[in-house]
Formats: sequence, structure tokens, C-alpha cells
Amino acid sequence: MVVKVGVEKRERFKYISHRMKATAKSPANIAFIKYWGRRDKTLNIPENSSLSCNLNNLSTITTVEFSEKYKKDDILIDGKRDDIEVERIISHLDKIRELAKIDLKAKVVSKNSFPNSSGLASSASGFSALALAGSTAAGIKLSEKQLSMLARLGSGSASRSIPDGFVEWNKGISHETSFAKSIYPADYWDLSIIVTIITKDKKDVKNTIGHTMALASPFYPTRLQGIDEKIKKMKKAIKNKDLKTFGEILEAECLNFISIHLTSTPYIIYWEPATIKIMKLCRKLRNEGVEVYFTMDAGPQPVLYCEPRNTKKIVNRLKKEVKELKKVVLNKPHHGARIVNKHLF
Ligand code: PMV
Repeated sequence: MVVKVGVEKRERFKYISHRMKATAKSPANIAFIKYWGRRDKTLNIPENSSLSCNLNNLSTITTVEFSEKYKKDDILIDGKRDDIEVERIISHLDKIRELAKIDLKAKVVSKNSFPNSSGLASSASGFSALALAGSTAAGIKLSEKQLSMLARLGSGSASRSIPDGFVEWNKGISHETSFAKSIYPADYWDLSIIVTIITKDKKDVKNTIGHTMALASPFYPTRLQGIDEKIKKMKKAIKNKDLKTFGEILEAECLNFISIHLTSTPYIIYWEPATIKIMKLCRKLRNEGVEVYFTMDAGPQPVLYCEPRNTKKIVNRLKKEVKELKKVVLNKPHHGARIVNKHLF
């Protein structure tokens, strides 16, 4: 009798541990039209809709396992247990447990292909990978829309890393209406996306704080007024694969977004001297006939858009003229989050 109970217990445990582990790989996305400011802080409902594209060479791989063998959540990010996002990750796991109606603790191992929390959208790739791996490990099957909603609860921009290619996040007015959708697949437009890394330092103001501070800028209402029209124009430029119009809107939007940082209370300055050097180099190259345009997220690292045939020329000039440049990562538009078979533990 004792033996029988033991066997039953072991079998049940084997079944659970097999079923309750999953791994997902998800891309970072860089916004063309930025999400900045929230009307609902708990649900991450944004003040405005946004547009972005997923990147193939900036990604996060995350394995999640729920099991009786874990007495508390154990979170390892890039080999470390003391990441600044640990609390947010645990609260995201709580949302997944609530959805799946389970009470098991989890082990989460996550690896970024790029420096995290340095203004390169690691929260987008991180929380979308966590949403997909976590919900799959917990045994719940979600539609793309539901996954985008779940990812949004972790980090707003993560909602845009779930669908493929070029993506629009419609701001919505509630949890059910605020999610992202693909507007064009990754291979619709063969853009070259050059990510410049000028520092690996973690930034000093987290996005969650920046979203709140934005509302204090006197320019914020003006920014919101023009944004739907800007999204319309940007979507048309993408549809027509019109790099000039796309690039002009991209840069103007980036500077508009940065004007909110500079005029928030207290103000935020994410730039480094090399950030400005790269922005100026874009204009210089355009004057020489090489079309290239910049944007950046809430951080110092410019992301450049150009035609593939110009990539090499631009990278050579970056290396020659920006001594602070640590690395360039070349990207193409990419599909969204996917389940992968190889676990990290
Ligand atoms: O998702 P969050 O809360 O990390 O905010 C992202 C904000 C920006 O990256 C600056 C803009 C965007 O739309 O991705």
C-alpha cells in the first residue's frame, strides 16, 4: 500500500513536470511611433496607439517551469538572480497562475542577446517571451490577441512583440480592447535596421517612472493631439515602402517623444554625447546622398533605418566617426514570439 502511494505520487509528479515546462523566443521591437504615458497604470493601457517592427537579432529566450519541487519563485536573468525586474517578473507569474488556476511556484531562466535595461526594448522581448513560455508551461492556450494582452500587463511594449513583422498596438480603452496586431508580415519591406550600442550601462530612469512623469510635461497634450494623424501617415509610408517619408516621420516623432522627457518634472536626459554624434551623422550622410534615418527608445542608443545596399557604407562611417561605438547589431524585420524546443535548463 505504501509503495503504491509512492509510485502514484512519482507518476503524478513526472506528468506535471513534463507538462509544465516551456521555452519561448521573442524579439525586441523598436517603435516608429512611441508609447509614452499610460491612462491605466495597473493594466498598462496607453494614452496613445503605437507602431513598431520586430528585430531578428535582439531577442530574449525564456524557459519557465512550474513545479511542486520549487518552494519559491526562482528567477535567473543572464545568469544573475538580482535583476532589477525580479519583482515585476514574479507579479507577471502571479497573473499567469491566476489565469491557469494553479498555485505552483516557478523557475524562470532568461537570456538576452543584448544588454538589458539600457534603452534597447529588453522589456518588450522579455515580457513577451515570459507571457508565451509561462502561459504554455501553465497549460493554457491563448490566442494571439490574448497573448498580446497578457504581455501588455508585464510591459506595454511587450504586447507588440507577439504578432509578426510590422505591428500596430491600438490603445483601446480596456484590458480586452488594448492589444497589438500585425499590419504587414516581416518580409513585406526589406529594411536594414542598424542598432548602435554606445553603452552597456543600465539606464537611471525606468520606463515605468518615465510613463508617469510624461503627464507632467506641458507639451504632452500637444503630442497626443497630433499622434493619430502621424500614425496614419506612417502606415501609408510603410504601405508604399516610401523610405523618405517614413524616415522624416520617424525622426520627427523621436524628437517629439524626447521633448517630453526634457520637459517632464523632473526632466530626464537619456542621451550621451555619442547619441548626438550619430544623429548628426545621419543628416551628414543624407546630404551626401545616403538615405538613413534615426530613432531611439528611452535610452541613449540610436537605431538607424536604411536600404540594405547602404548598410555597409553606414557601418563603416559609424566606426570611423564615433569612437564611443561599442557594437553594431544588424537587423531585419522579424516575426513575433515563438515556442522553441530547446529549454535553457
Ligand atoms: O513597455 P515599456 O513600459 O518598457 O515602455 C516602452 C516605451 C518605449 O520603449 C520608450 C516606447 C515604445 O513604444 O516602445
